[in-house]
Amino acid sequence: MNKSLADMRRDYTRDGLSETSAPEEPFALFRQWFQEAVQAEQAPVEPNAMTLATVDEQGRPHCRVLLLKALDERGFTFFTNYDSDKGAQLAHSPFAAMTFFWPGLERQVRIEGQVEKVSAEESDAYFHVRPLGSRLGAWASPQSRVIRDRAELERLLAETEQRFLEQAPHCPPHWGGYRLVPERMEFWQGRPSRLHDRLDYRLTAGSWVRQRLAP
Ligand SMILES: Cc1cc2nc3c(=O)[nH]c(=O)nc-3n(C[C@H](O)[C@H](O)[C@H](O)COP(=O)(O)O)c2cc1C
Repeated sequence: MNKSLADMRRDYTRDGLSETSAPEEPFALFRQWFQEAVQAEQAPVEPNAMTLATVDEQGRPHCRVLLLKALDERGFTFFTNYDSDKGAQLAHSPFAAMTFFWPGLERQVRIEGQVEKVSAEESDAYFHVRPLGSRLGAWASPQSRVIRDRAELERLLAETEQRFLEQAPHCPPHWGGYRLVPERMEFWQGRPSRLHDRLDYRLTAGSWVRQRLAP
């Protein structure tokens, strides 16, 4: 088992990332790479899936996969349950990090910064474009809490369906978006012999400063 893991290796030969072709600011590069990932990545890969890391009150890190649902000049938005474990961690410490991995393109993007809640209007607008089942699920599931078994979840869902028989479910107060406002964004392009390209953008006195990092 260990031997076969040790033998697993792939050389990255697809592309390069150079200071001459990369934009001066990172949002443009993220948009370009994201578009390319949408075109290149084959199902079942979800190009908007990323890993979000948060820290708890003891300084212990936690990470989990989430879906990026909006991107604009303010930052990177995902939606979740505000009462979940990640919600509690973000209420305690707004510092968070996100990682995207697009294996078909041999690319990784790392984003670090602070998280803020999006406005209730933004959460509401997104909630209402979700399928009915997902809207009911947001009401029914006490995300991150212990439940007895699958039957308990199904009972919670049945109760929620009864509650919203006559009216469409509105956005729950415990559900909504968070926006990661980046202070640092790093673009990694795999290259042969582990000599990868890494361009690191840091927000410094209001402007993005770009530097190359050793792989
Ligand atoms: C591909 C994928 C996409 C996911 N997208 C979301 C999401 O957008 N929002 C969410 O709350 N959980 C999402 N999850 C579930 C989370 O990984 C996690 O289980 C959940 O948010 C609870 O995390 P927490 O206990 O750390 O708060 C997704 C999981 C996977 C594997």
